[in-house]
Amino acid sequence: MNVLFLASEAAPLVKVGGLGDVAGSLPPALRRLQPPLWSGPQLDVRLVLPFHEEIKLKVREPRFVASFLVDHPGEDLPAKAFLTEVNGLPVYLIEGPPILPDMPVYSSDAALDGEKYVFFSLAVLEMLKHLDWQPDILHANDWHTAASLYALQIRQKDQPEFQKIRKVLSIHNLPFMGKDAEEAMIKYGIPRSKDKRLPKWATLFPLPLGLLAADRIIAVSPGYAREILTPEFGCGLQDFLKTRRSSITGILNGLDQDSWNPQTDPALIERYSIETLEKRSLNKKTLQEDLSLPVESDTPLLIIISRLDQQKGIDIAIAGLRQMANRNWQLVLLGTGDPLLESDCRSLEAEFPDRVRAIIRFDAGFARRMYASGDVLLMPSRYEPCGLAQMIAMRYGCVPLARATGGLRDTIQDQDDPAQSTGFLFEEASPQAFAQALERALILYPNTEIWRMIQRNGMQQDFSWEKSAIEYAKIYLELAEQTK
Ligand code: GLC
Repeated sequence: MNVLFLASEAAPLVKVGGLGDVAGSLPPALRRLQPPLWSGPQLDVRLVLPFHEEIKLKVREPRFVASFLVDHPGEDLPAKAFLTEVNGLPVYLIEGPPILPDMPVYSSDAALDGEKYVFFSLAVLEMLKHLDWQPDILHANDWHTAASLYALQIRQKDQPEFQKIRKVLSIHNLPFMGKDAEEAMIKYGIPRSKDKRLPKWATLFPLPLGLLAADRIIAVSPGYAREILTPEFGCGLQDFLKTRRSSITGILNGLDQDSWNPQTDPALIERYSIETLEKRSLNKKTLQEDLSLPVESDTPLLIIISRLDQQKGIDIAIAGLRQMANRNWQLVLLGTGDPLLESDCRSLEAEFPDRVRAIIRFDAGFARRMYASGDVLLMPSRYEPCGLAQMIAMRYGCVPLARATGGLRDTIQDQDDPAQSTGFLFEEASPQAFAQALERALILYPNTEIWRMIQRNGMQQDFSWEKSAIEYAKIYLELAEQTK
């Protein structure tokens, strides 16, 4: 069975956020499926990405596959497809005028982004006409590639070569619907949907149109799959999504457990395992020294590793920590994003110079050292479709404290009995609720025996991609069988 996976980013070629991790890990995990885990057909999964400038620096000699035109009223646009291989995964790369040189994966000019991704979405369909390999499934991700499913649905009416392809769309972040791509949709001649189930404002946005056209919709956790049907998380699409309820499935993302392994991670000062957890303290000590924080092994070290934006609830943590000023803790925060939040983080550091460090940069290696040093990872997200940091934290013996939403609720166990727990959850997105959960954590922390138990429980969780890949593979198979 053949699957073409469409994304705007995929590690290790290019990665901005969680989508890049998923698009880099899920296709290879699907290709690896075999008996006894998977008894279905072998999956030939391939990936297609825009040939971003950043990828050009890494992929020096891609194989030319085809050149073709993309429909563009007035003047069709030339496109080229190349093929490369990343650790055994075939990756198609598409080039064309709207994928401008020097353009980042996501540009600050939203209209340019719209144009780039609408072009890419259509170019993928054109490319298929020139390949000696045909997908049974087209699997798009988020708004950037969602238009391809809608355009495919339209072509399926009169272009027989497309008729058998089944359409899957994954939602990694519902609020981003591609609203600034509307103009590009018009420009490329994509018709507004007349479907009455869609709210009027959404009838030319790529994501809602993809959700309309998809045979199956995947949310990146079972919790998020339920939440998007509610007014709080549905972003105005909840009533429409309810009409698609029977086609929506939640599948948790996995974690690359080879890359994220405290026993082998070369970034760590001291490597350790579940049996040698005591060695972890050297990482904490070195981090405190390097950041000129008081070197105190008994002071709980809180960490935040996050994009700094509204979604992540950084402001909730900052306000909550102020409420907890008279307790003993240290905080190290790493991240970049919204300039206002960046400056709030710096203010917190200025207010508590002897216990807060705000490191406003992107630093993958330093993040690894933080996971191996921190006692508690704070993740007060307003919404979190899946979330990766909490899974990494657990694997590194750092206990997550998170808002009970989406994938956070699905991956973190907070029970009265610590023997059953892997972290701390709070319900309401408020500084008070956050502070109460932190209070609970700080009370348990000095009890080394119980704390170690929670750490070990987290380290024993199975967040492997194999588990998720099987869920995806079953859906592909169900869909492929419909066309027989
Ligand atoms: C988005 C979501 C995040 C999810 C990731 C990958 O970044 O915000 O929760 O883990 O996509 O699916």
